[in-house]
Parts: sequence; structure tokens; C-alpha cells
Amino acid sequence: MELKLESVTHRYSDVDVLRDISLEIPSGRITCIVGPSGCGKSTLLRLLGGLEKPVQGAVRQLGQPPIGCLNALTYIFQDFALLPWRTLEGNVALVLEDHNLPDQAKVIADVLARTRLTDFAGALPKQLSGGMKQRVAIARALAVNPAVMLMDEPLSALDSQTRELLMDDLVALWTRTPFTAVYVTHNLAEAVRLGHRIVVLSRRPGEVREIVEIDIPLEDRAYGDPALEAQQKHLWGLMRDEAAAADAELMDV
Ligand SMILES: Nc1ncnc2c1ncn2[C@@H]1O[C@H](COP(=O)(O)OP(=O)(O)OP(=O)(O)O)[C@@H](O)[C@H]1O
Ligand SMILES: [Mg+2]
Repeated sequence: MELKLESVTHRYSDVDVLRDISLEIPSGRITCIVGPSGCGKSTLLRLLGGLEKPVQGAVRQLGQPPIGCLNALTYIFQDFALLPWRTLEGNVALVLEDHNLPDQAKVIADVLARTRLTDFAGALPKQLSGGMKQRVAIARALAVNPAVMLMDEPLSALDSQTRELLMDDLVALWTRTPFTAVYVTHNLAEAVRLGHRIVVLSRRPGEVREIVEIDIPLEDRAYGDPALEAQQKHLWGLMRDEAAAADAELMDV
């Protein structure tokens, strides 16, 4: 399934948040959205997920979700959103419980294996590191076999080493079974490591400034790769003025 934004404009009362965004989210690829603070990235994700309707333009879903999909558009948030009283396995089971799946145990075992959590199935969230908690959140998202994963700064609550490890995990997951994701981040190193395409938004009201395609296969994108660093530099060139202006604007308030 693909998502398409057609001339989407959005505002909250008198605040213009997004302006005339046209964008396709291709299937089986990771689309990163970057842009300065407050430019409307999370809003864009909510519009894609159907949580809000744009004031102008349209958000379309094209094609069918994958076979066995229980929730076509599934979010992964920065704060993991796990239930503290449920085990890791119980947190994954939560999203399956209303569906009466005959093979629920198999689905859970599969996603725990894919996220390298099998040995921790009975642990409670408080026993897990931040990185493991986010792997649980990823396992839970994968369990519903979503058409598109909507990821809002999923690694930004983690320290930099854990972020590196999680990026490796995401690359390994995608390489084994490609998934479709929209990945919002303000971290350009994450964007060039994980994005097949990177959409750069201007400051608020967010407009598409540029779309950068990176052809290097995800598994070949080594840490510190000069080609990626060059892309990152290019992205920062686009973002720097916007970020500085956005920062000054926030200080005015
Ligand atoms: N429900 C709402 N009602 C009113 N204003 C809102 C609402 N949600 C977001 N905004 C405003 O819309 C603008 C865009 O917010 P949004 O959270 O989408 O930006 P963002 O790019 O995700 O920011 P950040 O980088 O801080 O995560 C901000 O000025 C924010 O204050
Ligand atoms: Mg946000």
C-alpha cells in the first residue's frame, strides 16, 4: 500500500502548520522526514495516519494492505508507550488480543525473534534498557503486519550508542523483510543511514524544500561513510538557515 499527500495544507486556528505538501510514500521503502523544530513533522505523520484531516488537500491510501494486516497504519513513538504491568510478551500480545488469531503465539514468537527479544519475553518494561523498550515497541508494531509504520523520532530518547545499535537493528530488519515506513527525525545522521528518500521541510509553515534520494543499499551504509557524510552535509546546508530562523522565531514568543 502506498500513501499519497495531494496539496495538503493544515492549520490550527490561526497557526499555519503545513502548506501545499504533495508527496508520495512508496511501498517497501523508508521515507525520512526532516525539518526544523515545530515545522509540522508530527502533524504530517498524524495526517498520514488519519488521526487528523487536512484543512485543504487530500491524504490517499493506494492499493491494498498486506495479507494478514491487522492495522494498516501503525505508530511508533519516542516514549515507547509500553504498559508497565505487562511483560514484554504481554505488551506485544496487547495489539493482537481483539483479533482471535489462531496462531497468536507464533506471531509473537516470530516478532520477538526478529527483534532479538526471545530471551526476555517474560521481563517487565522496568527491567529493560531504553533500547530494549524501543525494540519491544518495534516488535509490537511488526506484530500487526502494518502497511506503513509511522515513526515519530523513535530513537531520540536514547543515548547515542544505543541509537547506533537500534539503527543497525532497523537495517537488519528491513534487509530481511522490507517494510514501508515514514520516519520523522531531526537527526540527519539517522536520516542518511535509514532513509531511501529524505524529505526536507522548511520551517513552519512546513513546505517541501527538497527530496533527496539515496541509492546506497541500507546494509552498505557504514558508519562514517564519506558518501553519506556528504549527503548529511548537503542536508544540513538546506536545514541550517531554516533551523536558525525557526529558533529565532521560537525565542520571540
Ligand atoms: N493540536 C494542536 N493545536 C494547536 N497547535 C498545534 C497542535 N499540534 C501542533 N501544533 C503546533 O503546530 C506546529 C507544528 O507542530 P508539530 O508538532 O507538528 O511540529 P514538529 O515538526 O513535529 O516539531 P518538533 O520538532 O518539536 O517535534 C507547532 O507550532 C505546534 O505548536
Ligand atoms: Mg514532533
